[in-house]
This record gives sequence, structure tokens and C-alpha cells, in this order.
Amino acid sequence: LRKPKGSPTIRELLANSPFRNKHIVSVSQFSRNELHLLFTVAQEMRLGVEREGCLDVLKGRVLCLMFFEPSTRTSSSFDTAMKRLGGQTVLISEAHSSTQKGESLEDTIRTLDQYGDAIVLRHPSDESANIAAKFSDRPIINAGNGSREHPTQAFLDLFTIREELGTVNGLTITFTGDLRYGRTVHSLCELLKHYNVTIQLVSPASLALPDKVRETLKSRSQLGVVSTKLTPEIIAKTDVLYCTRVQKERFEDPQLYEQVKNSLVVDNATLKHAKQNMIVMHPLPRNAEIAREVDDDPRAAYFRQMKYGMFVRMALLALVMTPVEEGKRRFSFV
Ligand code: CP
Repeated sequence: LRKPKGSPTIRELLANSPFRNKHIVSVSQFSRNELHLLFTVAQEMRLGVEREGCLDVLKGRVLCLMFFEPSTRTSSSFDTAMKRLGGQTVLISEAHSSTQKGESLEDTIRTLDQYGDAIVLRHPSDESANIAAKFSDRPIINAGNGSREHPTQAFLDLFTIREELGTVNGLTITFTGDLRYGRTVHSLCELLKHYNVTIQLVSPASLALPDKVRETLKSRSQLGVVSTKLTPEIIAKTDVLYCTRVQKERFEDPQLYEQVKNSLVVDNATLKHAKQNMIVMHPLPRNAEIAREVDDDPRAAYFRQMKYGMFVRMALLALVMTPVEEGKRRFSFV
């Protein structure tokens, strides 16, 4: 790989990783320079996978994947990311764990701490990631804690915007759907503090962004239009339309879910008002909020977004799990 003269090689970046053996619990741990490091390594991972398929950066290392909530993308992209880095994985689901016999989160974490070199955790409790970090000597990577955060999704979302549109600064980003429970939105809003952006919010009143997050956006002068309808004017200004699913599993009252579940739908008629070079994103899974007809529009970036996620997770795993000496020795594709 060709490098601009004087810039560090990927081996040097990994050897000097600020995240080696660190818990990754929140996006707030990342400065703008550290995000830049993550994305630089992710771009190298993309090139490495396209050229070699698999690398040997984490050969001999084992990653525990503890998924106590359903997942397709996050679990399988961490799994493939680790395998494409030459490492191995162990998957533990709640249904097949001793949680069924009453074992606590703390004891489950202590157990995996004895076996693996790092633990990826998805859990329905908002406090789970911090509890796990307290009881584990191995790095914990938060893969979604209740409705609080989903840091690696936010990293891959930002990487997607950079790869697709070339920059984040100067963009107008419109969040639609379930902004109340959507942890991916909460994490991405926090990360966007590093950039000069305008954020538009579109959701049913009952699913509005929590006041605390909204006030933060306002204090940064990033808050644009707030609406319950996705109007042609809002769409016309948008560079990134970030759609989210109404999260049935977080509603205590099923009737309230029924009232709002299909209140915001993006279809080809919606996109008639959109810029030609905008993108539509979604963390997925989706229900009815993006019509299937949109899939054929080149502006639909949500399937590409999933693939960017694997490169970002490869980069994060390499930055967290590569031992110093092995980082120098093993990055053989550079
Ligand atoms: N985006 C996301 O977290 O998808 P999964 O729930 O399928 O992991």
C-alpha cells in the first residue's frame, strides 16, 4: 500500500494504539483525532480484505461474543471481522447460557474473562456495559446497552457518511423514526459534536429525541428543523436521511406501538424531493419505514453501510486487541 511520505504505516498505528486493552463503552471516549485513527485503519482493512480476503493480525486470539438481545448485523459482523483478522470467536446467547439457571451478568462476565481475550456485549440493560467493564480484566466492547448507546454502530455510520459523501462537515443530517429509544441515534448525535453539521429531527411526538440529547444539539448550534412530518422542504435540505425502526420491544403499552409504528415511511415519492447526491441510511433491521422500492435507488446506502461496519469493527478489534510486538510483526499485508 502506498502511503504519503512521512505518514505512519498501519503497523505503526496499531503498535501505538491508544485503545490497546481498553474497554469501549461509549462514543464519548473518542476524540476527533481518535476517530480519524479508527477510520484510517478501517480504510486499510477494506483494502486488505479486498486484496487478501483474510489477514493474520489477531491470529491466536479469541473473541467472546455475548449477545443477550437478538442481533444479525452486529453479531455476524464482529464474528466475520475477527475471523478476517485471523482470530477465533465464541458465541454465547442468553437462551443457551447459565443465565437460564439464574446466573448474574457479573458472574457471566467473570466467566468469559477467564477464556477469551476480549468480550463483545449486547444486553438489554442500560447499565450492562459499565457493569461488565467493572468486572472484566479483558476489554469489553459495547455492542448495544438497552436504549442507551451503540458505539460501534455510530462509528460505522460516520465512516459510511465519509466514504459515501467524502466529508461530514457542512452536511444536513435528518433523523427520522424512533428517536426516543433509538440508541444508534443517541450515539451518533454524540459523535457529531466533532463536526460542523445541521441536524433535523422528524418523529412522532411520543418518540421524540430525549430532551437531554436535544438540548445538547441546541447548545452546539446544530439543531435545525424539528417536525412530526417528513415534509418536502425537510427532504430537500437533507444530505443524509437516517431512518430508524420503531422499536416494538421497548414499548410497555402495545397500543401505543400500534399508533405510531407506520407513521413515517420513506418511499420513491418521498425521494422525488431529495438531492441527487444525498444518501439514505438505516442501522437495520427495518420494518415498514423504508419501502422496498427504495432499495433500487443508488441513494439507498443501507446495505453498503452494513459492509462498512465490518471494516470498522475489524479496525476497532485490531486497535484494542493487537499486542505491541505482534502489531509490528503480524501486519503482513502492508
Ligand atoms: N444495526 C444493528 O445493530 O443490527 P442488529 O440488531 O441486527 O445487530
